[in-house]
Amino acid sequence: MGALWHPFSDMGAVERDGEFVITRGEGAYVFDDYGQRYLDATAGLWFANVGHGRSELADAAAEQMRTIAAYSTFGDFTTDVTVQLAERLAGIAPVPGSKVFFTSGGSDSIETAAKIARRYWVERGEPTRRILVGRDKAYHGMHYAGTSLAGIPGNHDGYGELVADQAHVAWDDPEDLRATIERLGPQNVAAFFCEPVMGAGGVYPPPEDYLLAVRKICGEYEVLFVADEVVTGFGRIGGSWFASSRFGLEPDFVTTAKGLTSGYVPMGAVFVAPKVAAPFFETDAGRWLRHGYTYSGHAVAAAVALANLDIIEQEGLLDEALRLQETLTEQLSPLAHHAAVTEVRCGTGALAAVQLADAPSAMALAKALRLRGVSTRPVGAGGIQISPALIMTDDQVTEMAEAIGAALDD
Ligand SMILES: Cc1ncc(COP(=O)(O)O)c(C=O)c1O
Repeated sequence: MGALWHPFSDMGAVERDGEFVITRGEGAYVFDDYGQRYLDATAGLWFANVGHGRSELADAAAEQMRTIAAYSTFGDFTTDVTVQLAERLAGIAPVPGSKVFFTSGGSDSIETAAKIARRYWVERGEPTRRILVGRDKAYHGMHYAGTSLAGIPGNHDGYGELVADQAHVAWDDPEDLRATIERLGPQNVAAFFCEPVMGAGGVYPPPEDYLLAVRKICGEYEVLFVADEVVTGFGRIGGSWFASSRFGLEPDFVTTAKGLTSGYVPMGAVFVAPKVAAPFFETDAGRWLRHGYTYSGHAVAAAVALANLDIIEQEGLLDEALRLQETLTEQLSPLAHHAAVTEVRCGTGALAAVQLADAPSAMALAKALRLRGVSTRPVGAGGIQISPALIMTDDQVTEMAEAIGAALDD
């Protein structure tokens, strides 16, 4: 009986069947404690955009630790690298002039966006605008705001009353958003949270024109639009740093984490559009935002993020993600003809899911894939997650797709 309580797990099953212990990573591969090599189909938990074992990132962390590992960023404190990273992120933000609020991860970023959105309406003199709207199938992390907003059955249950003033809409129908805002009264609705490609809910690319339609509806009713780019950000969407840029969404908030540091150290960031940030930056208004985290803007995380952005730029990984979008579509789509598969969802960034007809067998398929040298996991209701490092080669994608085909036959 080990001491580790694994997140998102049935510990009874883990105790019975044992742990899968990863000890090393190199590029698109990881290795277990027996030295067995696996193609990492998921880039960890959607984060290792530049691949594993990058010494540039280790060097950046070590150098920063020797200089100053961390300091406060509360009040007027900061470290120099934190400022540098904020400026660099503002330069690639989907909305020019955005302010950058640092967090320790995706759930923090969602919590931060939810709180700033509500505070914004208080400052604007419309304090009744408190309702936060999420979509069915959505995943927004596991703090209370994100748990409340999410639309994955089961994730809400057993925690008592969640955050008040929430509403949910269909994941794929802009008119349901409009009808819901009308029903609630726009004067009561603060913000709409939207993953451009739904990730943990099962990798659902947006229906055609969906994103622009919901963006427009939010604009019409002055509901703040939060693009949750914890998965799609920092190149995974392909062709752009962010899905919001690729699809022209001009969001009021962009929540990020994961690919910001490629997961080498925990860090998240929220981009806040100038309109929303403005009241909090007014001179002599005495307007405090009493929110933030000990590790907001952590210096080592900031140094690693800067080095990670360098790699993404130097290696052209935004374009590589578009290449993977094509290769994944080409190699995985034929699996849709397999008797055990109902659908392959792909075609929007370096993201895909193979959907099984028999949802409970997804775990068995993931385990069969391990025996064939591929590490992945179930996602959504009976899907298998594919979100490789953006450095995965076409040959490795082919190898992965062949392994999935063979494991399905098993
Ligand atoms: C879209 C989305 N938002 C938020 C989160 C929460 O991020 P974290 O697990 O870093 O708190 C995730 C995590 O997978 C996510 O996929």
